[in-house]
Amino acid sequence: MTDGGQAGRGLGRGLTQYGDADFSLYLRRSFARSMGFSGELLARPVVGIAQTSSGFNNCHRGLPELAEAVKRGVLAAGGLPLEFPTISLGEVFLHPTSLVYRNLMAMDTEEMLRAQPMDAAVLLGGCDKTVPAQLMGAASADVPSVMLVAGPMMPTSFRGERLGACTDCRRFWAQYRAGKLASGEIEAVEGNLATTAGTCAVMGTASTMAAIAEALGMALPGSAAIPAVHADRLRAGEASGRLAVALAANPIRPSDVITAKSVENALRVLLAIGGSTNAILHLAAIAGRVGVEVSLARLNELSDSTPVLVDLKPTGQHYMADLFAAGGVGAVLRELAHLLHLDALTVTGEALGERLAAPLSYVDRDIVRPFSEPHQPQGGLVALFGSLAPGGAILKRSAADPALFEKEGRAVVFASLEDLAARIDAPDLDVTADDFLVLQNAGPKSNSGMPEAGYLPIPAKLARAGVKDMVRISDARMSGTAYGTIVLHVTPEATLGGPLALVRNGDRIRLSVRERRIDLLVDEAELARRRAAWRPAAGPPVRGYRRLYFEHVLQADQGCDFDFLRAQASASVNRDPKPAPDPESRIPNPES
Ligand code: FES
Repeated sequence: MTDGGQAGRGLGRGLTQYGDADFSLYLRRSFARSMGFSGELLARPVVGIAQTSSGFNNCHRGLPELAEAVKRGVLAAGGLPLEFPTISLGEVFLHPTSLVYRNLMAMDTEEMLRAQPMDAAVLLGGCDKTVPAQLMGAASADVPSVMLVAGPMMPTSFRGERLGACTDCRRFWAQYRAGKLASGEIEAVEGNLATTAGTCAVMGTASTMAAIAEALGMALPGSAAIPAVHADRLRAGEASGRLAVALAANPIRPSDVITAKSVENALRVLLAIGGSTNAILHLAAIAGRVGVEVSLARLNELSDSTPVLVDLKPTGQHYMADLFAAGGVGAVLRELAHLLHLDALTVTGEALGERLAAPLSYVDRDIVRPFSEPHQPQGGLVALFGSLAPGGAILKRSAADPALFEKEGRAVVFASLEDLAARIDAPDLDVTADDFLVLQNAGPKSNSGMPEAGYLPIPAKLARAGVKDMVRISDARMSGTAYGTIVLHVTPEATLGGPLALVRNGDRIRLSVRERRIDLLVDEAELARRRAAWRPAAGPPVRGYRRLYFEHVLQADQGCDFDFLRAQASASVNRDPKPAPDPESRIPNPES
């Protein structure tokens, strides 16, 4: 029989093994016909659409409609769109944390991209961990892929002010804890924080990762900030489908796009948007899939020369919908252009510099400031090193109180999340506003799976007295929507017996943002005694994915990826020779 010219492409890719390739293709086409496609469609290039809609993911509520728009674009451009499901990670629906399952989703995405017959893919994601998981998986599978995010929620008008998840969630909750909001009022707020489809409405982790996907060149220009419910989101879907068909003909692979240069561009954007601390982890993990290291020392160099340009919550006033109206990520990239690697290739086939050559017709300077008049003079994130964090720690200085940046304090230690919950509000807790709150055993290998618990609550008695911020230190993470003087990702973590595990109540700790240091002021002999007496808080999980996770998860400085998934251990399977991009296949830039 004839293979219809399909051997090694379209449905002829990666045949199921029966020991007879012709039979495999014949059988596959027979079963594909049962889906009602014509022979003409089945002979087309195949675009896989990674669908992450789920009843457990409110942020992805709009993805079924978005997938239809992608299909429209694929069909119009001459491809065959085939949707397939992967794991979805709804941030607030997962125990113990969504981060634990990011690598599982990345593995799912990678394996399904590789195992199923597709010439290119469109990745539909949005909620915090889904975009990094999909980019990690795509980078490892190295199938030509376009990232298409769900888009942010719209803010809501509520009693004379605008609300949006989730910086406002935390603001109201802090007021409730401080006794300034009654239970009936907090319930009313609860009903008005997240009112549309889409991802959190501020510059949280989801929005940050959307911006990073665009800055890396893995998403269409102008697509990161389009609100989930805006018709332009569907148009971006259609354009992404068309682009995927072009990529099927002239592959540009994730490994062509995610390079040392584009990763550095993404770091610049992360700093300029006052983005989430979580993005450092995710970008390190994505880059690690193609053999690029994200150095925290380099992050500090970039941070010192990259101002915060975007005035969005939690570091500013506005919402993602405002950033979209103001010019989007393209406006930020244009302000940063002189600092960027403009020769970095993007998934459209254009270099970044080509994309940015045309000026935007309108930029709202209240939202995206000019480089010469920034929102804040330096980047939003800094890495700290010192005896408490030899492998580094992260502080989001743009969301912190500068009055606390150069400070020595007494440690008030909580040994776990449970210990924190049990004692933080105790009336007899020995704590003052000048103390440093320290949380142990909340890192990547802890039972709590590196939760977003680094935003330790201000002890109730201090909150009621009007204390709004304190230095807080942990090996945990922090939601991208949170704020405060919060030292995160302390590496190595306490569960591995890092210096954080050795801190005791009453120890002195010194923070110096100016010197980029966080030091435990305890002499080495005493630390050696404590180290000798230290025992792990709990044994490893006994079975299943959690056991795999525990045995292979890396520390925060390597993005909490699994050791066997980083580039040096990955196989180059199914990789075709790389043709040069065809200029004719370039799709129009939606910004122009
Ligand atoms: Fe999904 Fe915030 S909960 S983006």
